[in-house]
Amino acid sequence: MNPFRRPLIAGNWKMNAGGQEACVLANEVAAKTRRFDRVDVVLAPPFTAIAAVAHEVEETRGSIDVDEGFGVGVAAQNMHHLQSGAFTGEISTPMLRDAGATWVILGHSERRQHFYETDHGVALKTKAALDAEIRPIVCIGETLAEREAGETLQVIERQLRAFMAAFEPSPGFGVIAYEPVWAIGTGKVAKPEDAQEVHARIRELLAEVSEEVAEATRILYGGSVKADNAAGLLEQLDIDGALVGGASLDAEGFVKIVEAAQQVADKLAEEEGGPPSGQRNAGELDADTGADERDTGDATSSEEGAPPSSADGVPASDGAVGIEPDDDDAVDDRENT
Ligand code: PGA
Repeated sequence: MNPFRRPLIAGNWKMNAGGQEACVLANEVAAKTRRFDRVDVVLAPPFTAIAAVAHEVEETRGSIDVDEGFGVGVAAQNMHHLQSGAFTGEISTPMLRDAGATWVILGHSERRQHFYETDHGVALKTKAALDAEIRPIVCIGETLAEREAGETLQVIERQLRAFMAAFEPSPGFGVIAYEPVWAIGTGKVAKPEDAQEVHARIRELLAEVSEEVAEATRILYGGSVKADNAAGLLEQLDIDGALVGGASLDAEGFVKIVEAAQQVADKLAEEEGGPPSGQRNAGELDADTGADERDTGDATSSEEGAPPSSADGVPASDGAVGIEPDDDDAVDDRENT
């Protein structure tokens, strides 16, 4: 982590906790993470529970919305890139907004693997999410075969260039999650130094757009993150948080990951000569008042506070030139079929 980027811990519940269980889990997470005021928390329940979870976290901690910038954010795990139409079984961005989601996970490897999502499709969705004022958490990562063939950095670059070419990235446009496929749900976590190497490369590629985009974009690590390995990962300079699958279904374990992020952030702030402790009484973080009282760190550090916002709350583009796609991955206006 770095003192100028607010850490983000996101829980991807996958196809679990879609009903009443979701409310219980969300409530517990929101209540127990209130005091960790240096960390942003996002929960991604299944579609069926988005509205209930959004309601629950708003009551408990205050939800992250484009205008608020603190609390627990609610993410969808996927979306269609068009707004409406004859697409049986699909969910569009206006529907997600109506339900209370302000974030969306895109291009997760399970979607690429089991549902044949392509770099091109992920690019279309990323653009559509930004157009709808929904912040994307775009997942990229190599398979085991690709890692063993020494292709990790090439794969990352291809995936990143493909979606970044679909829009003009501005500081705080969204979040990138590096998730090595071989580490997801396997218990095999990447070594912190190995993950750092990939994160640093991602940031280098972002710097091709602009230094501001590179510095403001949070890059999460995902793949078997648990309470006992989170700190080692989060201490790496370019790892700005975690996308947590299995361990996010257990409130206690997930809260410990958020706590680990808070501890690393506290330490960094102390070293930087910032406020001695980021912790506040839970009462101070009341949904009605907390936004003003929270230490948001460096304003350039997160989607919520950083970039100059347009009137509708979406970070304004800095007009930077986007990364050019590789030829094979050129993004055009074709619909994702
Ligand atoms: P995992 O999943 O933490 O269970 O490995 C991570 C993810 O799929 O986002």
